Amino acid sequence: MSQVLTPPKKTIRDIDVDGKKVLVRVDFNVPLDTERNVVDDTRILGALPTIEYILEHGGQPILMSHLGRPKGVVESLRMAPVGKRLAELMGRQVVTLKDCCGPAVKEAIEQNPGAVVLLENLRFYPGEKENLLDFSKQLADLADVYVNDAFGTSHRAHSSTVGVTAYMPSVMGLLMEKELETLGNLLEEPERPFVVVLGGNKVSDKLGVIDSFLEMADCILTGGGMCFTIIKSMGLEIGNSVVEEDQQPQVATALKKARRKGVRVMVPADFVVADRFDKNANHKVVPTEAISQDWMGLDIGPATVEKYCSVLNDAATIFWNGPMGVFEWPAFENGTRSIAGCIAAARATTVVGGGDSDAALRQFGLEDRMDFISTGGGAAMRLLEGKKLPAVEALADR
Ligand code: 3PG
Repeated sequence: MSQVLTPPKKTIRDIDVDGKKVLVRVDFNVPLDTERNVVDDTRILGALPTIEYILEHGGQPILMSHLGRPKGVVESLRMAPVGKRLAELMGRQVVTLKDCCGPAVKEAIEQNPGAVVLLENLRFYPGEKENLLDFSKQLADLADVYVNDAFGTSHRAHSSTVGVTAYMPSVMGLLMEKELETLGNLLEEPERPFVVVLGGNKVSDKLGVIDSFLEMADCILTGGGMCFTIIKSMGLEIGNSVVEEDQQPQVATALKKARRKGVRVMVPADFVVADRFDKNANHKVVPTEAISQDWMGLDIGPATVEKYCSVLNDAATIFWNGPMGVFEWPAFENGTRSIAGCIAAARATTVVGGGDSDAALRQFGLEDRMDFISTGGGAAMRLLEGKKLPAVEALADR
């Protein structure tokens, strides 16, 4: 197990679940369409090994999750569609309850011995986010042991992720273990050359991981809106492209550190620029030094794709977070599509983190070509920044 877990934590394999009610925190915070169908079931699929493990070892899984960010009860954010999808994936009945604690919930669990139970959206209760003692106790009261398999929510110190651990034996599930192991290895023993691809809109969201990767990566390839702040801090014009002026000193510090550590930080050589932020905008390809006033970069250009792909071809480990452009619009999807294709074709071990890169992979049908796609966005970034995850810290030491 990776050194990110110091001291090492217990997993579900370290406890006996036979005949026990097992309260499992999962992250079923999944996107729903307007008809309330689950659009992306990656997180549900990710939790299946732990749920199956409990069933195979004679336990009863009582699943709990949040969905969205409701304040109080919001009908459109009930867990019912998630329960339906889970039942389809498991090929067995899932008892989805309309509440998540209290005597009626306890009774419903008693009446369905051995069944997979899914509790109602935890965030219908303010006590969840506030990590209130009473709410934590009520959750703990439903079962004998607690398993946290919600890696995607492990950066939150809520009742269902931290509070409950005060009241029952608490261990991690198999997905949580896999996430910590895979992402932890990137920080500790990546096979070299280790190439990091970073995109997305804001450089301020990425400075923490950049700082961390400057300790162990060989090369960082940048794209997306975030790269314009880097380009500007190198003294180049960026026209009307998105920029975070206030982040330039931090970016300059990071670039200095990169030079000191011998890490190559590459910015795009060309862009697809548009005359406005619109999917039907006029657009053309220009070299980076020729972005004129009133034009904005919305995707990386073909020369950049070629350069980046040649670096990716030689990599032994690749981590990718954040799209290269506005991939949701056909005119600006090619950079992200091409880089995703190069990562898929690379001989390297490939790890992807963050919801947008995951969505892009799905759009291009490349999700099965990656070695590992993290189910955590914020949590994965926090871990890669070298920070502790409160929900992991709260689990029992081995
Ligand atoms: C996520 O989707 O990142 C997690 O489920 C956490 O959700 P939150 O940001 O609403 O806490």
